[in-house]
Parts: sequence; C-alpha cells; structure tokens
Amino acid sequence: MKEPLRIGIAGLGTVGGGLVRLLTENEDHIAARCGRRIQINGISARDRHKDRGFWPGRFEWFEDARELAQSDLIDVLVELIGGENVAAQVVEKALESGKHVVTANKALIAAQGARLAALAEKWNLALNFEAAAAGGIPIVKALREGLAGNIITRVVGILNGTCNYILTQMEETGRPFADVLAEAQDLGYAEKPDPTLDTGGFDTAHKLAILASLAFGTAPDAAGVYVQGIDRISPVDISFAAEFGHRIKLLGIAAVTARGVEARVHPTMVPLGTPLADVMGVLNGVVTESSAAGVSVLEGRGAGAGPTASAVVSDLIDIARGLRIPAFGIPTASLVVPERANLGEREGTFYLRFNVLDRPGVLATIASCLADQAVSIESMIQRGRAPDEKVSIVIITHEAREAAVIAAMKAVEAAGAVVEPPCMIRMERL
Ligand SMILES: NC(=O)c1ccc[n+]([C@@H]2O[C@H](COP(=O)([O-])OP(=O)(O)OC[C@H]3O[C@@H](n4cnc5c(N)ncnc54)[C@H](OP(=O)(O)O)[C@@H]3O)[C@@H](O)[C@H]2O)c1
Repeated sequence: MKEPLRIGIAGLGTVGGGLVRLLTENEDHIAARCGRRIQINGISARDRHKDRGFWPGRFEWFEDARELAQSDLIDVLVELIGGENVAAQVVEKALESGKHVVTANKALIAAQGARLAALAEKWNLALNFEAAAAGGIPIVKALREGLAGNIITRVVGILNGTCNYILTQMEETGRPFADVLAEAQDLGYAEKPDPTLDTGGFDTAHKLAILASLAFGTAPDAAGVYVQGIDRISPVDISFAAEFGHRIKLLGIAAVTARGVEARVHPTMVPLGTPLADVMGVLNGVVTESSAAGVSVLEGRGAGAGPTASAVVSDLIDIARGLRIPAFGIPTASLVVPERANLGEREGTFYLRFNVLDRPGVLATIASCLADQAVSIESMIQRGRAPDEKVSIVIITHEAREAAVIAAMKAVEAAGAVVEPPCMIRMERL
C-alpha cells in the first residue's frame, strides 16, 4: 500500500466531528478504495477542551488553523470552519503552502471560488467542494464529471433542508410560518437567533451560484442570483396550491436562456407528481437537464454530520487516488463572466392572491388591471361571500411577462381594490 494521505481538519463542529467519525469507522474500507490510508495528522478548532465525542488527544492540536494549513505534517487541509474571513485565510495559506484543499464552505466558494480555484490551479493542487452544495447528494461530481460531455441547460433544486422542513410542516399541520420556524429552531433544524441565512433564501443562493458555475462554465456569480425567502408564505397559499394541484417549494433555478443566465431563488409552485414536489421534510433534491442525458434527478440528505462528511470523504478519496479535476470543471481562465438575464423579461405562469372586501366591481378592477398589462387569466377561485368581509380572489395566469404581472399587481393596489398587498408566487413546470 502507498504512503498514507495525511490530512489536517480545521473546524470540528457538526461536519468536522462527523468527518473524524466516518474516517475512523470506515478506515479499512476507505483505504481499500484508495489504495492508501487517509490519516488525520492535525486538528484545529476554537476550544481545545470542548467534548467532541471523540478523543482529540489522538491528533496533533493546532491553536491557529492557519498554522495547521502550513504544517509539514499534512498533504491536505480540510476547511470546516465556515464563514468567509478566517476560512479564506486558512484556504489561501494551505494552497500557498502546497496543500490540497477540501471544503464544505458554500459561502466561501460562491463568493471567492474563482479566485481560490485559480490559486489551486497555479500550484496544480485540488480544491474540492462536493459538500458545499446539497450535502450528501453528489451533485458537484454529477455536473463536473458525470455530465461533463453534455451541454447542461438547466439545474433546479431544493437545496435547503431547513426551508423544505418548514414548508412541509406548514402543509401537514396548517400552522403559520412563525410557529413552525420556532419549532424548527427548538429541534436544531434552524439557526438561533437569526435563521435568515436559510429562510431568507441566501444559503440556497450560495449553492445555486456554485451549481450554475459548474453547469454552465461561468464564474460563480452569487451577486447575480435573485433571492426571495419563504417568510411571507402563508398556510392559505399552501392550501390554494393544493387546490390547483401544486405544492410550494423553495427552489433554486439556474438556466441558460436567450437573454443570458437566469439564476433565481424563490418560493415556487410545482405540480404534484413531479420529482421535486415529492421531496419532503429535510431532504434535498436536484433536477438537471442536459443535451444527451436528458433529465436526471438526485434526492437525498442535504445536511447533517453523516451526509456532509460523506461528501467530504469522497473529495479526499479523489485526492488519495491522484485525481485532479479543475475546481469548476474547466480551467479558471476559461470561466466566462455570465451575462445576467433580466428577470422582468422572463415569461412564466403565476399564482396571484388578492385579499379584497367583497364589494361590487372589485373583481372587474382586478381583471381590467391584468388586461391592461396583457396578462390573461387561466383560472380563478373566490372564497367568502358576506358583504364587507375580507375574501381571497386567487388567479392563475397564462404565460405572461413577469414585469407585466408585477405592474398589474401594483395597479390593483393603487386602485384601492385590496386590503393588503397582493401575493405573487411563480409557478414552474418541471
Ligand atoms: N452542518 C451541516 O449540515 C453542513 C452541511 C453542508 C455544509 N456545511 C458547511 O460546513 C462548514 C462547517 O459547518 P458546521 O455545521 O460543522 O459548523 P459548526 O458546527 O459551527 O462548526 C464550526 C467549527 O469551526 C470551529 N471554528 C470556528 N472559528 C474557528 C477559528 N477561527 N479557527 C479554528 N476553528 C474555528 C469551531 O470551533 P469550536 O468547536 O471550538 O467552537 C467549530 O468546531 C460550513 O462552511 C457549513 O456551511 C455544513
């Protein structure tokens, strides 16, 4: 057997702890697959004395992760600290010291991935990040390797387990967002005190930026992703969605269009019976559309110690086997800056809910505002009938320009026809 691959782990929290356990439990199995052992030679975290469920005294402890990154004891630095500042410094130090890098850090790769990949390329080192998107689902390898011979045109995913759990619970129990969020926080599924990285859609946007880059050969463009979270979704919309044969999911959608690259994260109505509609609870799912392979679907655990460690280990195994693939699948000099498609020009179908006082003429006002913008109605439901009572008018549009739909909604509001701002949810065929 060849010399062991010597690794250092910076960050020993959920993922780092899971990695130590997985490498220990499956040591022989992994060695057989790589033809060599993967040996932990150094570790670093903030608190040396924290109980981590394993004995850290077995490994060399580094007070400063940047020192671990440069240590002669390691060939690979695994960055599992998270965030952008210290993590970026640790990754840079490792690459500058000739160490391969494996990271699960989506925020870092989405924002600085192209720069770090160029650094890795300069020294012929690996920068692997399978765990940075959809955890245990091997979507990075699927895009970068399995589908490499295809023109990939579209990637659509449920990429955040917290949001999917909250939407699933809202649907199953009829409870409002705030209630379910509080419960998810108590269960450890959502961050405390500030869950907005997940619920605001930003975590999904980081992952989508990475997947779009791998799929389309573009530089990661996190700033170009349109982001809308799930905090304004109400049980009433979930129940109307079911009446129309749909379910609401927070989707990340990236597509190559004639108008440029479209990258958007928002609550989306997806038809029941399609693959992503059936991805429930904390699970993630990704659908890809590519020229030769057609539609591919992957579903599984997107987070947690085991699934994320599984992805990190797959990256380590690649390095142990001597595999070096450019971080984003092509040399960094070939990554093009994507032309961003204007979302307003996108054509799609829309769910619109107007809460109105049930008075004569209200429906006519709504219909005429939509008609003025050339938005035509495919179907409509009205609930409630007593005069002067708040009722919901729900409309599904035919294909329409997004900017026109938004203008029509503003006109309805300006006409004083609604008692609260209208709700719009984009619909997606899958
Ligand atoms: N959790 C998941 O399911 C999951 C899934 C996919 C990707 N990821 C990504 O994986 C990374 C790690 O996530 P996590 O959930 O494992 O985070 P976590 O549980 O908060 O662990 C972070 C670890 O980093 C250590 N740390 C913090 N600042 C440090 C510093 N300046 N120097 C050295 N160590 C430092 C902490 O030390 P102490 O323990 O001493 O405080 C802790 O061990 C993140 O980039 C995250 O986005 C996580």
